[in-house]
Amino acid sequence: MKSVTDPFSPISIRGMVLPNRFMRSATHDGSADESGAVTEKSLSIYRTLGEGDIGLVVSGFAFVSEMGQALPGQYGAHSDGMIPGLKRMAAAVHTGGGRIALQIVHAGAASPHLMSRGVPGPAPSRIEGRSTAHREMTSDEIEAAVRDFGAAAARAREAGFDAVQLHAAHGYLMSQFLSPLTNRRTDGWGGSPEKRCRFHVEVTRQVRLQAGRDFPLLIKLGIMDDDPGGTTLAEGLAAAQRMVQAGADAVEVSAGVGGDFFKRTVGRECIPEAEKPLFLDRTAALKGGIPVPTALVGGIRSLETVRAVLAAGQADMVAMSRAFIREPGLVRRWAAGDVRPARCLVCNQCYRLLSTPEPLPSYCWQEHRSRA
Ligand SMILES: Cc1cc2nc3c(=O)[nH]c(=O)nc-3n(C[C@H](O)[C@H](O)[C@H](O)COP(=O)(O)O)c2cc1C
Repeated sequence: MKSVTDPFSPISIRGMVLPNRFMRSATHDGSADESGAVTEKSLSIYRTLGEGDIGLVVSGFAFVSEMGQALPGQYGAHSDGMIPGLKRMAAAVHTGGGRIALQIVHAGAASPHLMSRGVPGPAPSRIEGRSTAHREMTSDEIEAAVRDFGAAAARAREAGFDAVQLHAAHGYLMSQFLSPLTNRRTDGWGGSPEKRCRFHVEVTRQVRLQAGRDFPLLIKLGIMDDDPGGTTLAEGLAAAQRMVQAGADAVEVSAGVGGDFFKRTVGRECIPEAEKPLFLDRTAALKGGIPVPTALVGGIRSLETVRAVLAAGQADMVAMSRAFIREPGLVRRWAAGDVRPARCLVCNQCYRLLSTPEPLPSYCWQEHRSRA
């Protein structure tokens, strides 16, 4: 029998059995149509991922309401009209033998999409000097946003997804609620670390209520901010514990509010192979503190690193994004014995997607260029 620290050993998340410890971390691909619906281009990306033997594929982030859309070309989970397309996306992964979670998000104040239309993003608080136009949400709007997350999760279930993941990282609405830098409320939704985490807890409960007690619920949590005065690691760990108590089944650890996430993961020209994965200490700190699986993401490129992290008990799973853009079949290659590191060069051209309307090819820009 394989040991639980073997990357190719199975893991179970609320009854969802995954064949190995690899996750495709959520990756926006810009392929949805103007309404947020899945297109043929999207299906070809997910078909390829489904054939790659990745334990769990997490979709690109899907907005839970029109006011929560971050980018053009983003998937929507905000209306029942999205369900037929989402069904096809889930089926595309299942056909290849894979499992898929829908990642759901509300962008809050961090929405280039709303900004391009001159609409201020709804945010926990109005912060003087913030670069994007935004306005403070009323408590009715907050409650509606909580319900929107629940309804989006229920649609994921109806569409045949195996799980849902809440995007509570990277400076989007959930991160904005957790951070004292962006949440200055003095009502029931802010003021103390516990109240800044109330949105997370209510969303988690609402997902349970609307999508069912048995539907696996993962969180991608911005466990701390890297800007001075932001969410501390201790606060982030407490937030993860509260979400788990409210019904979350696994936590992928990432960054919260602050430009550093982009500077450190994305802006880097190259992540040398020997370098320690970016959020290793934070993920390891969380692992002992919660009774559900944890996933490490950020800068993982080699099977050797994956093995070392799992063997040291620093995480239960490993997630990758850019490596799978270049090589959707990476896990299959490693499983077959070719253990050379991922071919991703960390050139970060894939991030151009966040500022151009061009959809991401199912292979990366470098590859695209070499084939042209
Ligand atoms: C093109 C692109 C799109 C991304 N879209 C998302 C997304 O939709 N949701 C999310 O949580 N993270 C998103 N990310 C961040 C990744 O999931 C991941 O956290 C980050 O790239 C670090 O992991 P890596 O070093 O394996 O790429 C995206 C990254 C890239 C490169």
